[in-house]
Amino acid sequence: MTAISSINKSALLSQRKTGTRWTIADALKIHADDPTTTMPLIDYDFPVIDSDVWQWDTWALRDINGRTVTFKGWYVMFALVADRAATGNTVEGWHSRNNFSYIGFYYSRTGNGSDWKFGGRVIQPGANKRDWEWSGCAVMRENTTNVIDLFYTSVNGTPAQSVPSHTAGRILADDNGVWFEGFDVCTDMFEADGVNYANIAEDQYWDFRDPHVFVNPDDGNIYALFEGNVPGMRGQYTIDSDEMGNLPPASTVPAGAQYGAAAIGIARLVSDANSGDFSRWEMLPALVTALGVNDQTERPHVVFQDGLTYLFTISHHSTFTGNSTGPDGVYGFVSRNGIFGPYAPLNGSGLVLGNPSDAPYETYSHFVDPAGYVQSFIDTLPQPGTVDPGNPQTYRIGGTLAPTVRIVMEGERTFLTEVHAFGSIFAQVAWPVSSAFDTRS
Ligand code: FRU
Repeated sequence: MTAISSINKSALLSQRKTGTRWTIADALKIHADDPTTTMPLIDYDFPVIDSDVWQWDTWALRDINGRTVTFKGWYVMFALVADRAATGNTVEGWHSRNNFSYIGFYYSRTGNGSDWKFGGRVIQPGANKRDWEWSGCAVMRENTTNVIDLFYTSVNGTPAQSVPSHTAGRILADDNGVWFEGFDVCTDMFEADGVNYANIAEDQYWDFRDPHVFVNPDDGNIYALFEGNVPGMRGQYTIDSDEMGNLPPASTVPAGAQYGAAAIGIARLVSDANSGDFSRWEMLPALVTALGVNDQTERPHVVFQDGLTYLFTISHHSTFTGNSTGPDGVYGFVSRNGIFGPYAPLNGSGLVLGNPSDAPYETYSHFVDPAGYVQSFIDTLPQPGTVDPGNPQTYRIGGTLAPTVRIVMEGERTFLTEVHAFGSIFAQVAWPVSSAFDTRS
């Protein structure tokens, strides 16, 4: 936990701008339906992985370097799920799923959507300190045969709390399937400090969640990326030339822009990962801020390729502010100087993959793996031929995975190149790897 007692109270409520700006000029370059940055239109008759649960944000089991792993030949993925019956299994139930969410797991021999089996709950009932479990990541611990560090967001309704948290357990498998032991002790990682990231006192709509833990190849340290907001009082930010970017000098700040204050956060691990202690972190200034552009940059994650650092984040059409607009989808930035940037927006605008305007809410929560495979879930799909696709008369709720697609990353550009089966996962490492063999377990 970061100590904030020594910090001058007045500093807590003042605006502090850091990091590369995703500028208003960048965002004005976003345009939907470019075939290189648009998700394919999904078939209305899409298959459902498990019709007992709603499934949304999903993350494959991986190593600390980001590579997707199989365990004893099994593909394993973790996801936010809610029991459909608990939500009433209705459209309203789908939209209220956040209040029922827990982390579930799935396993498969092939990594294909038709083959996933739902395995149930991961964290032991009662171990999470708060009501709900929201997004995070699952990492095989180095130098062990089967320890998994699960990082997630521990969320409360009342009082409102959102705390990145850690829990550890062991993965076990035989010819019939996969199961877990442990995940029975949950520890808070860090909280919004009001100095580097807005807290609830500053912004009642603050976001502080979705830890993505990785080792930085440049310095060997372990870091967590997360979703945050620029510190300062909601709606009272000053938008100046840094946030406007390369616009004509006479340009004025668009009305409402000051409600966009998203930040891609980062913290450095201070405690000892090898002993499983993920409780102490140093909060660092945001890597990218979207002041004036957008209020939410969710599930940030990173891919290192060809000496470049690709930072991805998901965002919504509804959270753009001022005169910025863009589709629901995944956005990204690239740095030539490692994780701390500076970053340039990918494709000039930041848009990497957005929904087609004929199905503006068909997918969300895209996750890009180091080989460029992108998973996402199906949100709502309008019935084909619907007159107004933005406000369809009839649509089908997803709650299951979309077709996996692949992008290539070439310098500051990305291209959609492949479309694969619904819910496919591709692995880069088979675990246990002999070099990681732990004779203690
Ligand atoms: C993205 C997201 C995450 C959050 C989760 C809650 O889809 O909003 O930021 O952890 O969903 O369901």
